[in-house]
Amino acid sequence: MTTLKEYKKYFFETLKSDFPNTEIDTFFAFLMEEYLNFKRIDIVLKPDFLVDDITKNELNIALEKLKNHEPIQYILGKTEFFGFPFIVNKNTLIPRPETEELVVWILEEVTLLQKSILKEISILDIGTGSGCIAISFSKKLRNAKTYAIDISKKALKIAKKNAKLNKVFINFFEIDILKINSLENLKKDQNSSNQPVKFDIIVSNPPYVRNSEKIEINRNVLENEPHQALFVSDENPLLFYEKIADLSEKHLTKNGILFFEINQYLGKEILEMLLQKGVKNFEIRKDLFGNERMIKATF
Ligand SMILES: C[S@@+](CC[C@H](N)C(=O)[O-])C[C@H]1O[C@@H](n2cnc3c(N)ncnc32)[C@H](O)[C@@H]1O
Repeated sequence: MTTLKEYKKYFFETLKSDFPNTEIDTFFAFLMEEYLNFKRIDIVLKPDFLVDDITKNELNIALEKLKNHEPIQYILGKTEFFGFPFIVNKNTLIPRPETEELVVWILEEVTLLQKSILKEISILDIGTGSGCIAISFSKKLRNAKTYAIDISKKALKIAKKNAKLNKVFINFFEIDILKINSLENLKKDQNSSNQPVKFDIIVSNPPYVRNSEKIEINRNVLENEPHQALFVSDENPLLFYEKIADLSEKHLTKNGILFFEINQYLGKEILEMLLQKGVKNFEIRKDLFGNERMIKATF
């Protein structure tokens, strides 16, 4: 047995050479909530609480993983995105705050679009990972039909669990987007009329970090998150954007909108490519940190 005060001291001492105090404080609060069901205020009010040996052992295992720079979200196996709970593991990227900003933008635009088309909105999320974009969208727009693609079977397994956890229905597909030239198969079952398959919104946060940018990437990301979700070659960094733009040109409805999360260093190149592919209108938005991180485009 150890008192909470003693354990906290040990915890901070162990991590102080690796992380700033504010971050250690956040880790500690998350673990206290997970293992002791303590809120931050309990940590302050109950310094003499006795941590039993079983709990201490579990905390030590988590502490060891933190010391090895494993992200707290993977240690706990969960995170929050857009206020909704998500299961995550090493097969899924940890959803980022800038992606929440993209979802906010899509929802704003969909509200306008819905007023003009007055029908059920259909959305396709390419490279869904944990399913965070598709699921948040479905939670907010109950009358949307949502489709999501990923190449990773293991990520899709988690995305399906997340859809269930959040009580939404998503049509998931295991597809390598780089190997297809049409999205016809996605609505095969519902498309008896042989009308071309169309989506009102196509969104993607594809892999976009160039291999040469690896030196800027934190150890916790580089050593833990799936490289298939993150990296592209320096020779062809826009390959996902080009392919998705081609598919969107074919498969967006007349008023349909394409949304991308983008590499902050490649906004100009992506825009030039989109204009060459026939995009008529576009808007680039900055994230909270002032970096260009999102594009909206229409054909
Ligand atoms: C940057 S992550 C985005 C995950 C999630 N949408 C998010 O915003 O957190 C990119 C995703 O694209 C998927 N991906 C990579 N290559 C792909 C391909 N060729 N076809 C389909 N999906 C692919 C990865 O498995 C990963 O889940």
